[in-house]
Parts: sequence; structure tokens; C-alpha cells
Amino acid sequence: MEYTELEIKRHLKTTWAGRNLVFLNTTDSTNEEAKRQAKAGAPHGTLVVAEVQTSGRGRRGRSWESPKGSGIWISLLLRPEFEPTHASVLTLVAAMAVEEAVRRQTGISASIKWPNDIVADGRKLCGILTEMNTDGNVIQYVIVGIGINANMSEFPEEISKTATSLKLISGKNINRAELAAQVMRSWEHYYEIFLKTLDLSELKTEYNERLINRKKEVRVLASQGAYTGISKGINEKGELLVELPDGELRAVLSGEVSVRGIYGYV
Ligand code: BTN
Repeated sequence: MEYTELEIKRHLKTTWAGRNLVFLNTTDSTNEEAKRQAKAGAPHGTLVVAEVQTSGRGRRGRSWESPKGSGIWISLLLRPEFEPTHASVLTLVAAMAVEEAVRRQTGISASIKWPNDIVADGRKLCGILTEMNTDGNVIQYVIVGIGINANMSEFPEEISKTATSLKLISGKNINRAELAAQVMRSWEHYYEIFLKTLDLSELKTEYNERLINRKKEVRVLASQGAYTGISKGINEKGELLVELPDGELRAVLSGEVSVRGIYGYV
């Protein structure tokens, strides 16, 4: 199955997301390329797609394994008109879009590991890295970078116990062009709902239905110390509500902490 600009365009059923498409065989990181595009004036909805990333980046300064021929490495450029404080939930909105796209195209029912990993079979399928550039209280641009492990048959030793791919789960090769286009379609759907309230008021119920570890014990690794509680799902600000043994409900802010199930990665 071909993975080309033409193929993605053939599957694209959006009004704006991905309509300006930049397809590259190789780039350092699609997030970096999207930033360069933004600085050069590229419009809202520009999608950068690469077959290979030579310095794919993950959250917390980690690198992101981005081999040729098997993954979906994409970055969507947004030029929102709302204030920067509203942008923090976009990464959760993107997780919902990826989960829906994967389910529609492959039938795989994955889960979201708060805030924005997509997991299946207890391993990570997709990661999202959202970056923002502001000028005072004005957003210049937001880049939503999405990495989906589509057709890998194996992973490097360091991540082999925590990563999986759509192919490993379904036993089938995934049409990457179709899935990239479907992610854009789902993105438009969820983003539109988010725009109505500029928070997750109308999305949190659905998000929580997909949330792994909901009502289960999780360990929160905060900078002031780690603690254990029961995950109650997110609120409209995208914070994870964790109930402590004494009944206190803590709202955990994404980016501030790492949340783990008590039995390993998820
Ligand atoms: C994470 O889970 O740590 C986030 C991973 C994000 C990876 C994607 S791949 C496309 C885009 N370009 C990058 O360099 N990173 C994101």
C-alpha cells in the first residue's frame, strides 16, 4: 500500500485539517518542520507528514523511534484564536481523534493512557507531542505531533516491552495513508466540539470511557513525592482526578507528573 501525498489526499475527507499537505521522505522531526512551515507563513491546518524522522522527539526530552516504512509521523499546525491557557487540552483532544481513527479503520479498540498515550494490549501504540509558540497572550501557532506505530513487526530492545504496533495487534498491514487521513477527519470532529466551550466539558465523558486505569489504582509520580490513589477520570480542564485513601480528591495537571498503573507501564 502506497504512502504518498497523493494517496493521503485521495483519502482526505476534511474541510481544513491536512488540506495543505507537506509530504517529506525524510526530515529531522515533523514537529520541527511544522515550526519552520509556521514561521514561513503556512496556514492553519497544514499537515506535515514524513516517511522517516532522523531526530523524532518524544515528551520529556526523549527521542522517538521513527523508522522508515512502518509508522505514521505527522504534525498538524494550528493557528487558534483563543488564549494560550486553553491549549493545554489539545493534546487530549488529539488522543481522542487517534483512538477513534484507529477504531474506525482497524476495529482495534485501544485505550487512552492519560493524558495522551494510546495503548493496546498493555503497550504503547501512539504518542503525542504538542508544542506551542506564543507572543505575549497571543498564540502564534500550536503544533500537534502524532506518532502511530502502524506496521512495525518488532521494536528495539529498549522499548520492546512497552511498545506495540497496529500490525502486531491485528496481524494485518495497515493502510497508513488512509489512517493519517482518518486521524485528520476525527481531529476536525473533536476539535469542533472543543471549540464550543474551549475546554473538555462536552468531551470528558467520552474521554473517560476510553481511559485506561479508570477506577483503578494508579501511582502519581509528582515532583513533591509519589503517591497512590484511585483514578476517577478527567475533569473539563483535562486534569486527572485521583482519590487518595483518606477520600481527598486531587486534580493532577498534565505535564506536572507521570501516572502509572501499579503493575507496570499502563
Ligand atoms: C511521546 O509519547 O513521548 C510523544 C511522541 C510523539 C512522536 C511524534 S512523531 C511525529 C511528531 N514529530 C516528532 O518529532 N514527535 C512527534
